Amino acid sequence: MAIREGRLADAAAVTRVGVAAWEKGPGSVLPSSARAPMADGKMFDALLRQTPGRILVADVGGHVLGLAVGDPEGEQLTDLWVDPRAWGRGLGSRLLAAFEQAAGERGRKRIVIDVLEGDERGLGFCRRRGYQAVGRSTVRDRDLHMMIGKIRLEKRLA
Ligand SMILES: CC(C)(COP(=O)(O)OP(=O)(O)OC[C@H]1O[C@@H](n2cnc3c(N)ncnc32)[C@H](O)[C@@H]1OP(=O)(O)O)[C@@H](O)C(=O)NCCC(=O)NCCS
Repeated sequence: MAIREGRLADAAAVTRVGVAAWEKGPGSVLPSSARAPMADGKMFDALLRQTPGRILVADVGGHVLGLAVGDPEGEQLTDLWVDPRAWGRGLGSRLLAAFEQAAGERGRKRIVIDVLEGDERGLGFCRRRGYQAVGRSTVRDRDLHMMIGKIRLEKRLA
């Protein structure tokens, strides 16, 4: 398995992985009317066209099975998705570690992640990797078109 920067040819695969992971993860704690924010394919396609370095992918034998996306500053992890068929094999941990390493190399002192309130799997995954809750907010999600609660998690980089 390799962690590498995404490329345009990965667009369909990262959208497929994102939708599948969203449905088993945060989507499973939201009303069924909520649709995966990346479902129309535009989100990752635009990123891969404009700023491919913002997407890291987990490539297993030429198949993209996971991705991590950061904000332009490289301080906030906005997306971390692994194909549910590959959960529990360490891909998510490897992607997060690679994201943290890249952030450290850019001089970032911390990483922040917003996780949907109630998504105990996502929250637990981050907590076990050194992230601590630093705040909570209720926001109107512009992709989901509904009010959602988010827990902000933070990890200070050494
Ligand atoms: C959270 C997520 C990225 C983890 O990806 P992953 O590749 O399964 O991660 P890992 O294999 O490194 O670790 C998964 C954990 O589940 C455990 N696990 C074992 N078998 C598992 C299985 N069949 N399914 C799920 N988890 C399993 C692992 O042991 C590990 O436990 P730990 O946190 O106590 O170490 C993935 O579940 C996902 O895409 N979830 C939806 C989105 C999300 O919640 N993102 C994170 C918040 S931003």
